[in-house]
Amino acid sequence: MTTMQFQTIIEPFRIHSVEPLRMTTREERQQAVQKAGYNLFALHSDDVIIDLLTDSGTGAMSRDQWAAVQHGDESYAGSPSWFRFLEAVQDLFPFRHVIPTHQGRAAEKILFTAIGGPGKVVPNNTHFDTTRANVEFTGAEAVDLLVTEGHDPASRHPFKGNMDVAGLEALLRAHQGAVPVVFVTVTNNSGGGQPVSLANLRAVREVCHRFGVPLFLDACRFAENAWFIREREPGQGDREVRDIVREMASLVDGMTMSAKKDGLANIGGWLAMNDDNLAARCRTLLILTEGFPTYGGLAGRDLEAIAQGLSEVVQHDYLRYRIRSTAYLGDALTRLGVPTVQPTGGHAVYIDARAMLPHIAPLQYPGQSLAVALYETGGIRSCEIGTVMFGRHPDGSEHPADNDLVRLAIPRRTYTQSHIDYVVAVCGEVAKQAADLPGYRIVDEPPALRHFTARFEPIPAR
Ligand code: F0G
Repeated sequence: MTTMQFQTIIEPFRIHSVEPLRMTTREERQQAVQKAGYNLFALHSDDVIIDLLTDSGTGAMSRDQWAAVQHGDESYAGSPSWFRFLEAVQDLFPFRHVIPTHQGRAAEKILFTAIGGPGKVVPNNTHFDTTRANVEFTGAEAVDLLVTEGHDPASRHPFKGNMDVAGLEALLRAHQGAVPVVFVTVTNNSGGGQPVSLANLRAVREVCHRFGVPLFLDACRFAENAWFIREREPGQGDREVRDIVREMASLVDGMTMSAKKDGLANIGGWLAMNDDNLAARCRTLLILTEGFPTYGGLAGRDLEAIAQGLSEVVQHDYLRYRIRSTAYLGDALTRLGVPTVQPTGGHAVYIDARAMLPHIAPLQYPGQSLAVALYETGGIRSCEIGTVMFGRHPDGSEHPADNDLVRLAIPRRTYTQSHIDYVVAVCGEVAKQAADLPGYRIVDEPPALRHFTARFEPIPAR
């Protein structure tokens, strides 16, 4: 008999070092969030009980990763830790050049500095916000080309992260010579953590090949994406995840990576590619801002932790637990009648706050209202992904975003099933009070990226 015959998901690890959670009262949390201007980014994290703000760099490292940290060799050039990192990356992603960076956005910054610029157009299934910002910072245009199902929170299409292949072909025809690279983000974070199929990657590859444009992966959650391929794509069910990852890599010409996600590390990233010329230009930029090419922005001990993390993240027991435990939260919220993006993605559950709080107009920020209520009620920190994040435009105007979502991102190997049961209970309590939750107004906001620092106040009920 195997544990897989039972409904209960057990964490495929036991706990060997614990971090205390500070329990707080509702009154304490109300004071803390008021002091923070109702912006959850401004909280002290020890005033948070369950922190679902992000899955980035917030996971638990394994015993073997902490042991690897002790092997960290801090030599400036040619450290053994670098060679261990390089071997682990190339085992999954056999690109000729691997350029280590301190996190994903540093890899993006270097790549787009090298190939972006005014008049250039960069397509992606959906740009993550730092990726878009790094493309636009060079003067290039960032275009999202997602399949239509990916825009519909209720659609249960198995690969809602897929790129719109016909749209890509039309774009490449219209902008011949102006597209330096095509990107596919796996999984599609901004679109709900939804996967991309191998069939879609192959089709995108074929179009890129025909137009002579390189294809790159934003590979942050590559292992979760490969697990979805194994589970959902016809003919893939018997494959090893590592082989699926290698096939994903074989279809593209390079990648950017944040090791804070599927590197199972707290910091790190890389840029990789086959093109010798491009790699030489990127290495020069790397030396300006990150460091020497055998450590990038990282300590030797970080390189070791990532190398070990890469061997753990493709293990089937880990991925089965990871994906099922995210779905466990999504399914429980669905049973409570809380509307979420369907089907549940890999790293997070996205609550549709606009559907849950229909009495709050989008410009009174239903996502912010829900996020504050989850914090006040149960000390849960989530992240608004909606009109607060995307509503203000460079010309100063403000419009509702496409959706008002609240993301509950699950740090890797960090919370147990009873923590998640508690999250479900808090969401149930908030759902009961939904009709009484207030809208918010912004009392102070910076000119750009306002969600990080804006201050809010509740709008009193009339
Ligand atoms: N690409 C994607 C798809 C991401 O989700 C992120 C980060 C990055 C690039 C940038 O990587 O943080 O290492 O610089 N996402 C985090 C999140 C911050 O909360 O979703 P980074």
